[in-house]
Amino acid sequence: MYQLQINDIDYKTFLAQYWQKKPLLIKKGFANFEDPIDPEELAGLATEECIESRIITNHQDNWEAHHGPFEQFDLLTETNSTLLVQAVDHWHPSAADLIEAFRFIPNWRIDDLMISFSTPGGGVGPHLDQYDVFIIQGQGKRHWRVGLPNANLKQFAQNKSLLQVEQFDAIIDAVLEPGDILYIPPGCPHEGYAVENALNYSVGFRAPDQKDLLSSLADHVIDTESGSKRYADPDLQLRSSIGEVAVSDKQRLKALLNSIIDDEALFSQWLGKTLSEPKHDMDLAPLELPLDLEQLLTEYDEQDIVYRAGGVRAIYQINQNDILLSVNGENFTLASHNIGAVKQLTDGNSFEFGAIISALSSLDFAQAFTKLINDGIYFID
Ligand code: SIN
Ligand code: CO
Repeated sequence: MYQLQINDIDYKTFLAQYWQKKPLLIKKGFANFEDPIDPEELAGLATEECIESRIITNHQDNWEAHHGPFEQFDLLTETNSTLLVQAVDHWHPSAADLIEAFRFIPNWRIDDLMISFSTPGGGVGPHLDQYDVFIIQGQGKRHWRVGLPNANLKQFAQNKSLLQVEQFDAIIDAVLEPGDILYIPPGCPHEGYAVENALNYSVGFRAPDQKDLLSSLADHVIDTESGSKRYADPDLQLRSSIGEVAVSDKQRLKALLNSIIDDEALFSQWLGKTLSEPKHDMDLAPLELPLDLEQLLTEYDEQDIVYRAGGVRAIYQINQNDILLSVNGENFTLASHNIGAVKQLTDGNSFEFGAIISALSSLDFAQAFTKLINDGIYFID
């Protein structure tokens, strides 16, 4: 278990003063930090087809980006190279533990854990990210510079594939040591170069933009065959000009669109699905012999621990008459009195089986939980 200490401030103060506002260097954010993974294991993950990885090299200021999977690692030279592996929390339970320390931020905002290994001089160059990130220093040291957002900074693609930004003024300029953490809000230019072989862990966040939301909502409307209400104007009056789309026509068309977003049931179902959908493959082990509720209750004791598999996205919404639990893109409508059990599934990554046993007498919760266990999304040890 990693315990995060944000300098001498509490989470509430961090959110009020820094979150989405300004970068922060957190010295010894994790005291006595121990890496959950080593560079060899990270390289092993980068050989896998289903795991996204890259090697970036910057020899004599010549930037190159290579995409995995990698069969061998001769690109990862003794200096000026970086291996980056995405969504390691989906594949490596101990690395996934690192994310748990940041769960003071809502589950749906957390994205995944990217891990990089860089050799001296290696980095991805100066760039901007669109999302908040906490970059944790693991083994080794890395020299980081972070600036404030500046609309005048020009972005350009190095070697056609690596988006970078021109040089910027730094407000943080520090060599990070194991357990130190940088918090970087969206749009703040930053660059980090390894001083000695270094592991870095990036806990990244999600924040959809309007086009992400609209295109996902449109997909949901099509998939569920909803949205069939059609424009109607039984009160149409004779007009002096037929070329104009009248203000009242526009208002009516807008209202037609808004009525989709105002459909509470459709909106919650879509939101639960889209916010809980993982972006990367998962490493789940569905049960070979699925259990029914009775078998589940006889096989496990109250003290057994139920774990949420790494990378699983579990969230809920409280609606007027029920709760909508959403796990990895699947929705479960549950009776409101199951809120305690739903919080067990979503608010921590493990709990005692006994904590939800009483909720299993509720058919909707029992069916949802049995399915989640059978699919390997949660497992009991
Ligand atoms: C890295 O670990 O090399 C990249 C992290 C970042 O700048 O977002
Ligand atoms: Co970055």
